[in-house]
Amino acid sequence: MGLDGLRAAAAGCRACELWEPATQTVFGEGPETARIVFVGEQPGDREDRTGEPFVGPAGRLLDKALGDAGIDRRDAYISNAVKHFRFTAKGKRRIHQTPGPEHLRACRPWLEAEFAVLRPEVVVCLGATAAKALISPSFRITRDRGQLLPWTPPGAALPVDDGHLDDGHQEADDDEPDEGAPAQTWMLATTHPSAILRTPDEARDAAYAALVADLTVVAHALA
Ligand code: URA
Repeated sequence: MGLDGLRAAAAGCRACELWEPATQTVFGEGPETARIVFVGEQPGDREDRTGEPFVGPAGRLLDKALGDAGIDRRDAYISNAVKHFRFTAKGKRRIHQTPGPEHLRACRPWLEAEFAVLRPEVVVCLGATAAKALISPSFRITRDRGQLLPWTPPGAALPVDDGHLDDGHQEADDDEPDEGAPAQTWMLATTHPSAILRTPDEARDAAYAALVADLTVVAHALA
């Protein structure tokens, strides 16, 4: 199934309770040929209304940082670890709530399906939620950000042990990677754009520059 089929299927997802108060599923967006995938946390208020990822204030900051790092958003695939907006209502306002482990678990098959179709060369986790879900629960953005780490996409096929490895009769293509899969997938985690928007004025420029520096590492890896 391609991305369009996945998007259509995810529109009816009821794997956790978040679908009910949300306006719609916000699936990933970008070309099927993208070499880079960005994974945020979950759609925000604006994304929930429009149905597109990273189109609100955090998305505008991300667009600017991508431009400053020399990455064209149109070449990238942008998605989220959770595809429904989790919020609490306060009068007319909808206040973002961090998704729980149960929401990440329920949504994970969609992310795995996106990776299976895209076979990206680099995956960028935007913020701790994505990094903890995709790298390790002990991952700390402040400590480990900006480093390209070799990474195996969840659900990627493991080498098959056919029990004949030492009989000298391996098939010619035994060591070939899957068709269309990069020889190695890389992962990098960086600050979530929303965290930069929340950074106090006096520290915001430095936080933004650090995001651009991390994205520049990715741009160089893809050059
Ligand atoms: N924050 C996210 O993590 N994802 C979006 O799509 C928008 C804001």
